[in-house]
Amino acid sequence: MTLDDNGDAAIALDDVAVTLGGRKIVENLSFAVAKGDFVAILGPNGAGKTTLLKLLLGLVAPSRGTVSVLGRAPRRGDRNIGYAPQHRVLETDLALRARDVVGFGLDGDRWGIGFGSKKRDRLIDAALKEVDALQFGNASVGHLSGGEQQRLLIAQALITDPKVLLLDEPLSNLDINHSAEIVALLEDVAKKRGVTVMLVSHDINPLLPAANRVLYLARGHSAIGTPHEIITSETLSRLYGANVEVVRSGEHVFVIGAEV
Ligand SMILES: Nc1ncnc2c1ncn2[C@@H]1O[C@H](COP(=O)(O)OP(=O)(O)OP(=O)(O)O)[C@@H](O)[C@H]1O
Ligand SMILES: [Mg+2]
Repeated sequence: MTLDDNGDAAIALDDVAVTLGGRKIVENLSFAVAKGDFVAILGPNGAGKTTLLKLLLGLVAPSRGTVSVLGRAPRRGDRNIGYAPQHRVLETDLALRARDVVGFGLDGDRWGIGFGSKKRDRLIDAALKEVDALQFGNASVGHLSGGEQQRLLIAQALITDPKVLLLDEPLSNLDINHSAEIVALLEDVAKKRGVTVMLVSHDINPLLPAANRVLYLARGHSAIGTPHEIITSETLSRLYGANVEVVRSGEHVFVIGAEV
């Protein structure tokens, strides 16, 4: 979908710059994401991927430009936005059950307060079912595999029935098969509910079946478009200001010369 008019955009940034600790992290960031888009956010360490998600959550303020999420300025605790942060290590505390972790998604704002335990249980069960994790809902999180824990974090982000899902490296530590499973699950949920997904990753390959857009950040700059438009030697060389080669082999894409 082209967005001549950003009125129907789920997310729109206009000439945004972010400065943190006196250093410019990103600048001239302008893009729009349509409702229902599945956006892969790529780029090297320190490029500003997590910062971008925090900008959309209202946790970081732009030093310039405007940010709009679902037609308004970002505000903290918006239950229309589900967020799974990076490097989330689940407690190895054996007393904490999988379903408790999912329930934390209701405690982020006042929304969950005042729920009877029956309603809370019902919402947790629905979220667990959505990520195909009902079978280990009562297991201790410390006993679960990385892939199983990742499902719980996605269920936690989904429990308020958000319109936008922000996922920061949900595929890190997962093997190819489990990455593919999580991506298929997210694609399914996103389609069923019409959710807009922004997913940070270091590898485009597991996302190729699902992502219709790529937002690539590097050296403070960005490029957005379809995976085929962005993951090319020409676009990435321009973005990195160095020679980057993209090689395709069958279904796979290899990016050579870029530190991703
Ligand atoms: N509060 C802050 N104050 C100063 N600098 C910050 C702050 N938060 C982040 N930064 C810096 O901003 C840059 C971008 O950080 P960010 O976490 O967004 O990168 P990233 O693309 O998510 O990297 P990674 O792939 O390693 O997760 C980094 O150089 C980081 O050190
Ligand atoms: Mg990050």
